[in-house]
Amino acid sequence: MQSKSFSDMKKNILLIILSLIIFQDFKAQNIFPAIIPNPVSIEISKDKFEFSKQTRIYSANPKLVSEIQTFNSIFSKHYGFKLIVENKIPKNEFIELIYSDKLAKEAYQLSMTSKKITISGDEAGIFYGLQSFMQMLPPKIEDKIQINCVNINDYPRFSWRGMHLDVSRHFFSKEFIFKYLDYMSEYKLNTFHWHLTDDQGWRIEIKRYPLLTQLGAWRKGTLIGHASDAEIISDTTAYGGFYSQNDIREIVAYAKKLHITIVPEIEMPGHVMATIRAYPFLSCNGGQTEVATTWGVFNQIFCTKDTVFDFIQNVLLEVIELFPGTYIHVGGDECPKNNWKKCSVCQARMKSEGLKDEEELQSYFIRRIEKFLTKHNRKLIGWDEILEGGLAPNAAVMSWRGFEGGKKAAQEGHYVVMTPGSHCYFDHYQGDPTNEPLAIGGYTTIEKVYSFEPMPDSLSDSQQKFILGAQANLWTEYISNEKQVEYMIFPRLCALAEVDWTPINRKNYEDFRQRLLKHFDFFDTRGINYAKSIFEIKKTIICDTINRNINLQLSQAFPMGEIMYYVVNNFTYKSEIKKYTSPIPIIENCEIFAEVRDKNGDIRGKAEQKFVISKTSGATINLTYPPSSYYNYGGAYTLLDGVSGRIPWNGKEWLGFSNTPLEAVVDFGKIQKIKSVSVHTLIAEASWIYLPKKLKVEVSIDGKNFIPYGELNSDDINKIGRLLKIEKAITKARYVKILVERAGIISSGKPGEGQNAWLFVSEIEIN
Ligand code: ACM
Ligand code: ZN
Repeated sequence: MQSKSFSDMKKNILLIILSLIIFQDFKAQNIFPAIIPNPVSIEISKDKFEFSKQTRIYSANPKLVSEIQTFNSIFSKHYGFKLIVENKIPKNEFIELIYSDKLAKEAYQLSMTSKKITISGDEAGIFYGLQSFMQMLPPKIEDKIQINCVNINDYPRFSWRGMHLDVSRHFFSKEFIFKYLDYMSEYKLNTFHWHLTDDQGWRIEIKRYPLLTQLGAWRKGTLIGHASDAEIISDTTAYGGFYSQNDIREIVAYAKKLHITIVPEIEMPGHVMATIRAYPFLSCNGGQTEVATTWGVFNQIFCTKDTVFDFIQNVLLEVIELFPGTYIHVGGDECPKNNWKKCSVCQARMKSEGLKDEEELQSYFIRRIEKFLTKHNRKLIGWDEILEGGLAPNAAVMSWRGFEGGKKAAQEGHYVVMTPGSHCYFDHYQGDPTNEPLAIGGYTTIEKVYSFEPMPDSLSDSQQKFILGAQANLWTEYISNEKQVEYMIFPRLCALAEVDWTPINRKNYEDFRQRLLKHFDFFDTRGINYAKSIFEIKKTIICDTINRNINLQLSQAFPMGEIMYYVVNNFTYKSEIKKYTSPIPIIENCEIFAEVRDKNGDIRGKAEQKFVISKTSGATINLTYPPSSYYNYGGAYTLLDGVSGRIPWNGKEWLGFSNTPLEAVVDFGKIQKIKSVSVHTLIAEASWIYLPKKLKVEVSIDGKNFIPYGELNSDDINKIGRLLKIEKAITKARYVKILVERAGIISSGKPGEGQNAWLFVSEIEIN
């Protein structure tokens, strides 16, 4: 009995080892194709298909002629030759395309034998099947190559798989738009949201209103540096450009071949400085404006008089003519209502329409446009601000300020595209900001994008149907050229594609990251400028509350070599270069520099970190109110980690608060003598981040009875600036309670007026 089960066990172990060897072997030979987005199902057989310049492509169905042409034109861009097209069943190895309307929309099936690859589906499905096939090839084809045979069954999770591009803040050529569409389609994204108008430039020719492009497409200069720099300066170089209606027709036709629908965005009633520059009658006071040369939110918006609606409708008629897709995006975001409050026409409109406030007036505005679009068989979509004051009956919502707007709209039976800033804003930093080119802020790594789940929680099955899908946005304030567009979208676009396409149970970040390596080879071969942040040395600051110090842990997602580092102690004395083996204890002020080189000696990752040590190092902290989920990368400990946030600010080193004050209790673990308390705050008005109005510090021996330590009021803070400090005679305390109050509502004439001011804090330093 025992011996039988023992031999069974041996057999089983042998089987497991054998299958592991086979599995390893598959991996080692790259038998698993590195397809992104990961297909719904993929099976591997042991057959091989020999692909060469002699491989034919064939379809019996004339419907698919244009799919063959499109594929061949993409293929030849990458490989320098086209597949030979046959009109009868070829004798050589070949790819056969079979039209089928039996599968779901955009679905495809791909099966392979050693002689033939068969792809079936509708036109889009065939297109996607061919993209998957192309991803099975190496980046370059010199001669014959052996491809391992697979069977794939694949279809998308969401119908709206979007990428956005802002061409107002910076203009990109028609040729580059073609490229952008290529990039999208190779990863099975199907919706291009084209942000054509904004304060800094109007970019679409409208025949009836020629001044829109003659005047509105040109600005007199462009902001230098960051909008949150202390001093705002612009260069004096005229900047602009626009797409003619012929350009747009070409782009729409090109997108159609790639199975991409274009959603044009015409901003209203805010973000219209360039529009009003061309036609001043559109504003409330009729006042002249300039096309904006800086980034931000501006007070000059459309009035609600009838002539404005006439103008918008005439513009939209031409837009509808140019863009055949169902949706027209009308913006609706970030619209300060001060001018409406002062305008007699707008106030009279509110009275006659029975609107109780300016939010309802915006809602009236959007409803009126929606009625017009509906009459012309189009659907309106807008940013989630269009929910305020009541949503227009058939409007769809793009949820950018988090998940809530999207969830609410779906619950009310409106279609929704999820694009929350936290996961989908590709203008954010994607790696350690020390290593990255200047960006608007934020911190959205590829891992974060990959972790995005577009379906808001607690929606019923019927409400879930209203979530059309997910989209990433590329705002281009800090992205002035094509190479930088590529850098900001790649490789995050690949993660977005998988979020939009792949079923949840087929998503796995480790596996994705491995597949991504092959795509880096494609990018390298094709000259695409992509971010290499996933190779960077990852810094993790670990608090050791037992030994009461902090440690810097360095790690690599893909080990590329040994991490070497040196320390500049007290910012003065340079240590020898050491091999990193375990977290580095930080016991005094210092700066650490690390790098990793591959076996060729090339630098593959770098890291540097400056630490200022105080009594808070190794202490613990409790926050009464959590920070905003958008700006809470490292949690409360961010405030004690010895790292003072850099400027321009980024989402990694700061905690942000928009509804509550910061209230923190720091516990040293034992009684300490303290002589000063400092709080590192931020002023970045363009991002609605303002100095706090109060700092109050209390101390305690027992954590229950707190006594006042010191206080700074608004006048003190305005004099001191962002690094707030209270110094006193030596005081004994184990606990320090810090209260920092937000500025409150942003005052008139300032960026974000009428909104809650943000409070950003990066560090609490106690000496
Ligand atoms: C937006 O980012 N203002 C939609
Ligand atoms: Zn008005």
